[in-house]
Amino acid sequence: MCGIVGFTGNNQAAPILLDGLSKLEYRGYDSAGIAVRNGEAETEVIKEKGKLKVLAEMTNDGKAVKGTCGIGHTRWATHGDPSAVNAHPHSSDDGNVIAVHNGIIENYQEQREKLIKKGYSFKSQTDTEVAVKLIDYYYKKYSNEPIEALSHAMMRIRGSYALCVMFKDYPGEIYCARKDSPMIIGIADDESYVASDVPAILKYTRKVYYIGNMEIAKLEKGNVIFYNIDSEIIEKPLTEIKWDAASAEKGGYEHFMLKEIHEQPKVIRDTVNSVVKDGIVHFDSVTLTDDEIKALDQVYIIACGSAYHVGMDLQYVIESLTSISVRVELASEFRYRDMKLKKNSLAIVISQSGETADSLAALRLAKDKGIKTLGIVNVVGSSIAREADNVFYTLAGPEISVATTKAYSCQLVAGYLLALQFAKTRDEIEDISYTKFLNEINTIPEKVEKILEDKVRLQWYSNKLVNISDAFFIGRGIDYAIGMEGSLKLKEISYIHSEAYAAGELKHGPISLIEDSTVVISVVTQDKLIEKTVSNMVEVKSRGAKVMAVTTVGNYFLEDTAEFVCYIPQIHSLFSGSLSVIPLQLISYYVSIGKGYDVDKPRNLAKSVTVE
Ligand code: G6P
Repeated sequence: MCGIVGFTGNNQAAPILLDGLSKLEYRGYDSAGIAVRNGEAETEVIKEKGKLKVLAEMTNDGKAVKGTCGIGHTRWATHGDPSAVNAHPHSSDDGNVIAVHNGIIENYQEQREKLIKKGYSFKSQTDTEVAVKLIDYYYKKYSNEPIEALSHAMMRIRGSYALCVMFKDYPGEIYCARKDSPMIIGIADDESYVASDVPAILKYTRKVYYIGNMEIAKLEKGNVIFYNIDSEIIEKPLTEIKWDAASAEKGGYEHFMLKEIHEQPKVIRDTVNSVVKDGIVHFDSVTLTDDEIKALDQVYIIACGSAYHVGMDLQYVIESLTSISVRVELASEFRYRDMKLKKNSLAIVISQSGETADSLAALRLAKDKGIKTLGIVNVVGSSIAREADNVFYTLAGPEISVATTKAYSCQLVAGYLLALQFAKTRDEIEDISYTKFLNEINTIPEKVEKILEDKVRLQWYSNKLVNISDAFFIGRGIDYAIGMEGSLKLKEISYIHSEAYAAGELKHGPISLIEDSTVVISVVTQDKLIEKTVSNMVEVKSRGAKVMAVTTVGNYFLEDTAEFVCYIPQIHSLFSGSLSVIPLQLISYYVSIGKGYDVDKPRNLAKSVTVE
């Protein structure tokens, strides 16, 4: 969602802010703004509705704005419509305090009314302007002391925030405060950066600090001082980001999504190799003891969006390989349900960003209820990675396209490896099968490569789907879970209505929607279930549907029913999801570009959903 960038150093700030914000465009936004300060001079604030290029034109790519200290923001509207007045930065009435903010201030109405009684007035409809004026109020009350002002405001604010503030009396300094919204601080020679996500600063530095919840940071040129809510100085370790800058660029591909689809063989291999050594899985960061794993009788997989679909697939894998029961829960539901969690259970929270608000809240709830937690997370140092008892990092690298592909694939193999290791620790798998399964997992990267070689045929087929208005994805078991992901991919970037159904459920409603030329995409890879799903394909075909199938090499008889068949290489059916999802990613990509849409930045969506 919203993006934040801040810089203080010797170089001109505005071009750095615009460049950093452009790297955060994928998070989703509808207006943008910057505030830049030149030494003691007045701060210049430029903000406008629309894309960053509007801001770039207004400022001659930032060159027209002079100053070496500044903050910038891309806004994804929550309180108040997308407009210049609601865009950030927001200022106090006298311009003393200027700030940008990510998150949601839940008690902003109450605070706004109190501030109005104290003589403040408001120009925008945003919760951010309330935060700025609250900080200004405490700033004046506590002798113009920024840390005091921020800590008092933080005590009054309920909700989530990553705040970057400049105070008129403190040129060259940026003050940051954080609670439940992502924010990192980067440091280089004589330069300091702040950003809501790594890609914004990767070009300038890889040395970062993670600011914790309810903490404050003061940024000066090349130096950062951290404070707790009691205004005491605290020490933080400096961490090095391993991602290289090139991995956050398009690298010759037309879109990030296509690049990320093609990166899958490599990142799956990296993720597997990060834990498999000499034919055995070693989870150094998973500190569950063997006894704890042996005692497990329930796993809850909790996630949102595509990560939830990973959980839908993994439930079949874990339940096949072990005697552990699995429940898959949407984080947004789990957090508000009064679930009775079993004592010997483990909550696995899956999240690319590690910052999804609902997933983070669900993780905290599971911890509060006293059960062990494990995060499968891509972004190092993110909130879920830090707060989970155990972490399994996927090595997908930076994922920029809003529609996830490579992170999803890495989460899936991470889950396979966990399931396999649980089975081994619990003596529920023979050594020979363990090795066989591990070998199968090792073949996934080369098999994904093989599918990618077939993309021209998929592009040809996808062109036929550009003008459809509805699509149905059907499958059983793991194939159903993959259909859910395929359906989400298609709808999120092509804006085509699509639904995934367990094939056996068709007769309980959706079949009434099948008419002449309705597109039905069937995933048919589970040996034991093929005949059942083929019957469903025949049923919809006889009602006029155009049927496509994704199946395993050898199932050529499907061509009798489907008008187009995409074959994936042979693999054990437990791991077929890693292959069958690839054609579905490619189809949704090609349909979206065929329709002329902005495939990397679909309307209304955000990469990282940091508010509820
Ligand atoms: C958004 C993204 C999805 C992602 C979901 C969960 O909706 O567009 O790609 O699956 O959030 O995000 P997370 O970072 O928790 O995996």
